[in-house]
Amino acid sequence: MSHTKNLVYYKTDHEIGLMREAATLVSKTLTEVAKVLKPGMTTMEIDTLCATFVKDNKATLSFYKYRGYPHNICASVNDVVVHGFPNSKPLKEGDVVSIDLGVILNGWHGDHAYTFVIGEVSDAVSQLIRVTKESLYKGIEKAIVNNRIGDIAYAIQEHTEGKHRYGVVRELVGHGLGKHLHEDPNMPNFGKRGNGMKLKENLVLAIEPMINMGKKEVYTDNDGWTVRTRDGKPSVHFEHDVCVKKGKALILSEYSIIEAAELANPNLTASPAIAF
Ligand code: MF3
Ligand code: CO
Repeated sequence: MSHTKNLVYYKTDHEIGLMREAATLVSKTLTEVAKVLKPGMTTMEIDTLCATFVKDNKATLSFYKYRGYPHNICASVNDVVVHGFPNSKPLKEGDVVSIDLGVILNGWHGDHAYTFVIGEVSDAVSQLIRVTKESLYKGIEKAIVNNRIGDIAYAIQEHTEGKHRYGVVRELVGHGLGKHLHEDPNMPNFGKRGNGMKLKENLVLAIEPMINMGKKEVYTDNDGWTVRTRDGKPSVHFEHDVCVKKGKALILSEYSIIEAAELANPNLTASPAIAF
């Protein structure tokens, strides 16, 4: 989604520490999801679990009522790209489920997402998940001082569309993150090297590739939120909160705890962890 505040905010090191706490709370909440996900569970149950865990940890849910969004989390299954409403339909073997969660902790936002697979899944879907996760890290590698937004965008597009012929969603983008859920700059997952704003230290970015197995085209349901692939094929979404640094980006969110829980859960197929 695009930003609302037409400003770029650079954070102090102290503020980066606070943002890391917010991002980590999102990661811990997604870890709770990874522990219990199984066929038969509903995304509404996941919504309740997340909301309870976030409130128990003295934080608030940032998506609820954001521009009228009616739920605590986004739960996007199969052909739903992003912004899926949690519902009471039981999940089944083979479902591809992106859980996107935003919290406010001590005034700072954490906002990230992870895509899970219920049970066994085809090689084609496994590859889409692996490549999308890889593309996120290829983008993050470029989130360093003096690079530009286009360097991140190009790295993601090149790996997914260039190398694997997947569809990169154009209508939705990542964003700056801080005291607001959506700050400048917009972070498209497609673009040209050397284009766009130059990155400076302690800019915090939510980088979030949304990658379709088939064509890039999407549409929005009549509910005004649910974004789906036009061709009905699956889509995958991973998101990290990242701080721009010299030489190597600092990832504020934490996939390793989610991945450990995912691996330990016999009802899920884990996607490979990526060294960073
Ligand atoms: N991670 C998504 C985003 O940054 C989630 C927004 S959902 C909304 O745009 F409900 F908050 F809009
Ligand atoms: Co986001």
